[in-house]
Amino acid sequence: MLADKDRIFTNLYGLHDWGLDGAKRRGCWLDTKSFIDKGRDWMVNEMKASGLRGRGGAGFPTGLKWSFMPKVVGERPHYLVVNADESEPGTCKDREILRHDPHLLVEGCLLASAAMGAHTAYVYVRGEFIREREHFQAAVDQAYEARLIGKNNIHGWDFDIVVHHGAGAYICGEETAMLESLEGKKGLPRMKPPFPANVGLYGAPTTVNNVESIAVAGAIMRRGAAWFAGFGRPNNVGTKLFCISGHVNKPCNVEEEMGITFRELIDRHAGGVRGGWDNLLAVIPGGSSVRMVPAAQIIDAPMDFDSLAKLRSGLGTAAVIVMDKSTDLIRAIARLAKFYMHESCGQCTPCREGTGWMWRVLTRMAEGRAETYEIDMLLDVTKQIEGHTICALGDAAAWPIQGLIAHFRDVIEARIDRYAANPDHDGAVARIAAE
Ligand SMILES: Cc1cc2nc3c(=O)[nH]c(=O)nc-3n(C[C@H](O)[C@H](O)[C@H](O)COP(=O)(O)O)c2cc1C
Ligand code: SF4
Repeated sequence: MLADKDRIFTNLYGLHDWGLDGAKRRGCWLDTKSFIDKGRDWMVNEMKASGLRGRGGAGFPTGLKWSFMPKVVGERPHYLVVNADESEPGTCKDREILRHDPHLLVEGCLLASAAMGAHTAYVYVRGEFIREREHFQAAVDQAYEARLIGKNNIHGWDFDIVVHHGAGAYICGEETAMLESLEGKKGLPRMKPPFPANVGLYGAPTTVNNVESIAVAGAIMRRGAAWFAGFGRPNNVGTKLFCISGHVNKPCNVEEEMGITFRELIDRHAGGVRGGWDNLLAVIPGGSSVRMVPAAQIIDAPMDFDSLAKLRSGLGTAAVIVMDKSTDLIRAIARLAKFYMHESCGQCTPCREGTGWMWRVLTRMAEGRAETYEIDMLLDVTKQIEGHTICALGDAAAWPIQGLIAHFRDVIEARIDRYAANPDHDGAVARIAAE
């Protein structure tokens, strides 16, 4: 288990002062200037050496991403954009940083911006996060007042933070949709290339990072890349916030070592699976966009990027959704399909038409009101969406359904057979719904 001394988010539960005094007592803003004085290359290399992979879902190496920014600032300024849109179902970690440890993010914004030659950072906060935005804005104001940021600040790097409040659209969490939204337009994802590091916000070089990725930068520079890289195993290192929800005895957020096994994570921090380990059915380990993993495969699996990818799933945002044997998996995935249908921006035909089609078929399947051949047809449609759209929302809509069919095809077939065998269809639907 991760020792308390190795935790970065020491006010995760909001038990202490989230303001500047409290943050300083916890070690934030210590030696910040000395890291900036070491220069851009040192900071980028330190992040590379730490092995940090982006905490927003895709796991792209953070230091490498920072190194893509032009070495010399040209005619256009450089920007950092922090993704605080956190709308992935099951995910609730960035909001805790915003409201309980906001100075870690303010300091991280300054360090990341200095490392990339940016003098302005935009923090895009999810529309529903009212208190979170208030706390974060208050922390930004405190930092200005204490001359930690702003013009002629004590760190010697002129720097402004703009807090932007979104309107509550999942798609605005996609990095290029976020840039469009910041520019005052509809949040429609852009085609890539060009990538944001070349043509980003207002056409200028931009890096978009998740809140957690940026908030850990200060601790990494203070304690050293080797310290961070010492947790977990190669390519999957560091400490990580896990959001544990669903059928566990004590749902919680917790910072743990990357690569902790699923069993240890749940037993130590979430009070075990409801009804005991034999009652576990399946787990969605990384937020709603990844494929579910059946109980037998996940129980002793390390919770990290590569291990979960081997199980044809992913660590994603580390939002761990636990489902026990009372779960109607078809209905659960149908509900997620409805979410993706609702959040599709509609630019790409496969996503716009396919998400609604998949939801309608899954809704029928949840009742059993379908034909067996439709299972393969549904699978085929997911494959036609996957990889054929402008942004990854299409993949995100396809993968949960693929996971369901890969692991629980027999459950769908049994539901269809049961419905077909029962002439009293209305009664059958009611009974299935009640079960
Ligand atoms: C539909 C969609 C929604 C997304 N929502 C978020 C989000 O809420 N927060 C986030 O950090 N990344 C989100 N992402 C991923 C971002 O596009 C981007 O990869 C991420 O912010 C990069 O940060 P990182 O490198 O620090 O992980 C989303 C991606 C897609 C396709
Ligand atoms: S995949 Fe879906 S959400 Fe993404 S751009 Fe295309 S239509 Fe919009």
